[in-house]
Amino acid sequence: MKHLISLHDITNEEFNKILTLAGKLKAETKAGITHHLLKGKTLAMIFTKSSTRTRISFETGMYQLGGYPMFLSANDMQLGRGESIYDTANVMSRFVDGIMIRTYAHSDVEDLAKYGTVPVINGLTDLLHPCQALADFLTIYEHKGKLEGLKFAYVGDGNNVAHSLLYAAAKAGMDITVATPKGYECNEEIVANAKDDAKSTGSTIVTTYDPLEAVKDADILCTDTWVSMGQEAEKAERVKIFSPYQLNAELAKHAKDDYIFLHCLPAYRGYEVTEDIIDGEHSVIFDEAENRLHAQKAVMAMLMGD
Ligand code: CP
Ligand code: NVA
Repeated sequence: MKHLISLHDITNEEFNKILTLAGKLKAETKAGITHHLLKGKTLAMIFTKSSTRTRISFETGMYQLGGYPMFLSANDMQLGRGESIYDTANVMSRFVDGIMIRTYAHSDVEDLAKYGTVPVINGLTDLLHPCQALADFLTIYEHKGKLEGLKFAYVGDGNNVAHSLLYAAAKAGMDITVATPKGYECNEEIVANAKDDAKSTGSTIVTTYDPLEAVKDADILCTDTWVSMGQEAEKAERVKIFSPYQLNAELAKHAKDDYIFLHCLPAYRGYEVTEDIIDGEHSVIFDEAENRLHAQKAVMAMLMGD
């Protein structure tokens, strides 16, 4: 494993190893045991989009691993004035031991990895959000004691979060059904890749337009914002189209009695999810947010450790 750009690129074993190491680092951190696995190393973190969780969890995680996290707003870099990814990747590789990037075009992250010589971690692109899916699956494991054989229901936009969940489910042997409105389906190539990955674990990957089909007997209910970063101008139209896909009590009653609710956050109560669900007894959203820290520490240790 050289980078973490897409969960499709890593093996099932690597996927499981990240989650196991994340659990170990989490337990050690809670017990007050320090683990300076990245002492003296620097992680550059480039952001061209806003962030609360990603920035704070990477920055804290790098500090806890004994390294130095360097926050870089793309607007303040020459990258924001047109310097090429090629030059940026080469120059940064001379200074730092790893790069985390959150940006729009997925190809920019791939190019950074292609032209640079240090590990690159995808902190969200328009296409994928792998670190989020790792944290989600760590959370599921903690609450359900297993991953294999569970049913995951995602209802809403076929976006970056949904794409990475498809890959994670395929790796973990979890069944997943994604329900989206017409015109907002998941990327076809990603669905095909996930189905291919799922052959090794035997899980089922289903896409549908019917939210009820997705949530029926599900162990996990999940949604995400209807308006991702960069889509602000489409808000009014999206709210109209997505409203039948709101995760509310009426829909949730079709899930298993002991379902858990996940949301990567930021959430918009009253839109993709109602308050009673996101703030209700089944919701584990703050465990999920915390697990960004532990999952990403495992990723950084595996990619950047000696
Ligand atoms: N879930 C997530 O990535 O949150 P931020 O946008 O706050 O980083
Ligand atoms: N789909 C959302 C996730 C935010 C963490 C977005 O891309 O804005």
